Amino acid sequence: MKIEKEETAVPGYRMIGNCHIKVPGPCCLVLFGASGDLTQRKILPSLYSLYRNGLLPPEFFILGTARTPLTDRQFRASMKEAVVRAFPGAIDEGLWEQLAERLYYEQMDYDNPSSFVALKERVASLEARHRSAGNRILYLAIPPDAYETVIANLGAAGLSREDAGYARIVVEKPIGRDLVSAKKLNKALRSSFLEKQVYRMDHYLAKETVQNVLMFRFANSIFEPLWNRRYVEHVQITAAETVGVEHRAGYYERAGVIRDMFQNHLFQLLALTAMEPPAAFESDCVRDEKSKVFRSMRPFAPDTLETTVALGQYGSGNIEGSPVAGYRDEPGISPDSAVPTYAAMKVYIDNWRWHGVPFYLRSGKRLAVRKGEISVHFRPVPHLLFMPHITEAINPNTLLLRIQPDEGVSIFFQAKRQGSRVCLDPVEMNFTYQKTGSIDAYERILLDCMEGDQMLFVREDAVETTWSLLTPLLERIEQRADPRSFPNYAAGSSGPATADMLINRDSRQWRTL
Ligand code: BG6
Repeated sequence: MKIEKEETAVPGYRMIGNCHIKVPGPCCLVLFGASGDLTQRKILPSLYSLYRNGLLPPEFFILGTARTPLTDRQFRASMKEAVVRAFPGAIDEGLWEQLAERLYYEQMDYDNPSSFVALKERVASLEARHRSAGNRILYLAIPPDAYETVIANLGAAGLSREDAGYARIVVEKPIGRDLVSAKKLNKALRSSFLEKQVYRMDHYLAKETVQNVLMFRFANSIFEPLWNRRYVEHVQITAAETVGVEHRAGYYERAGVIRDMFQNHLFQLLALTAMEPPAAFESDCVRDEKSKVFRSMRPFAPDTLETTVALGQYGSGNIEGSPVAGYRDEPGISPDSAVPTYAAMKVYIDNWRWHGVPFYLRSGKRLAVRKGEISVHFRPVPHLLFMPHITEAINPNTLLLRIQPDEGVSIFFQAKRQGSRVCLDPVEMNFTYQKTGSIDAYERILLDCMEGDQMLFVREDAVETTWSLLTPLLERIEQRADPRSFPNYAAGSSGPATADMLINRDSRQWRTL
């Protein structure tokens, strides 16, 4: 992540919204899984958007690969359809034609090493044509079960070697489904690439408001002195979604909410909230501090699971006034699936700063609203000075970092109500991000990878530490899975009653969704 400059007309930068963003140097993107859903929904629209904003270098091309036989022309046509779907009625035909001239396709058999030798030759000839200086980004937008074969074949064909320029590999989540598989994948990566070449994506980290957590904490002197066990009573982290499983039944039935949202997005939010100030605002300094948080997390004790984890699965209900099906009635889902679509958990970070402060994390699909937020709940005042004039409890202060969709920061505090002599009202001081047309998370990720900045990508050790915390928990949950306990929350509700019990047992409450 680069700190954008605010001056005007900086050479090599483009003005987007109200900041300058650096245009990366020559490179190419080799896209594995080019006929797939991710390419069509996210990657190609993001590349088009970067191109439209002048954020791709002139010496750039995209080589899509997949098993399907396609000509360059057919590939260009299908990518155009994808971009039109992403920006209905808003694509600039002339610009698209220019971008399309940099789009190529190579049919591949990912299991066959000779396919990778042919790929290498094609890349070399396109590099000569586009003068992309031998800089290569290898983007795996393929099903995870194909990762290891593709990685090994890339290595064997010499595509991971940094001869003329750089070679970087982008790996989408899931990075494994437990500790053993994550280690195996990391080992496969290590046998063909160096860690500095590996970009493990977590698109949450590229959200502006998630990046703001560090800026907010370490660019203001008034919050950091309070950011510890002495003043913070507890913290809540929420990622609530209104969408259901969508078209991803096959993946989700094997994943469930803990693998899908906690091992990556929620734990990353937790790390940003809890970490110590890094020695410098550089990738490895930031990632070192996040890893320390993960290493300080208290392992889940099997005998206290009931009081630390609550699970749910949505039944039918209403979302924004329209009826929706329950999880088990979604296409491709087993009618007696015991896969959780909601989880709430209480975690502790056993270090000097946070010892004894509970962090409550929750995430679920088909909830009442879409909302991502981090709320820091401060301790109540030590002495009720206004008794007996004010008899009701005074709400403790809360700081709210709103991740999405209403991005911003709020502070809740008490203020005197006008008129009466002693009377308090809780009030909110609010900062809302203005939508200034900044770039989106996938665009950020692509630019950072071209710039060689790994700050927003997840390092090997963080992946393994988070899995080492969650794997025993998942094993225990899966051993005990009982389809009769689900569904236990209606679509459009705020989640299962067990999640409320988890926090109410500690005499606390979730923030309202
Ligand atoms: C993905 C999960 O990583 O994040 C999805 O696989 C989830 O299940 C999505 O819906 C949420 O991301 P966002 O950016 O839409 O909030």
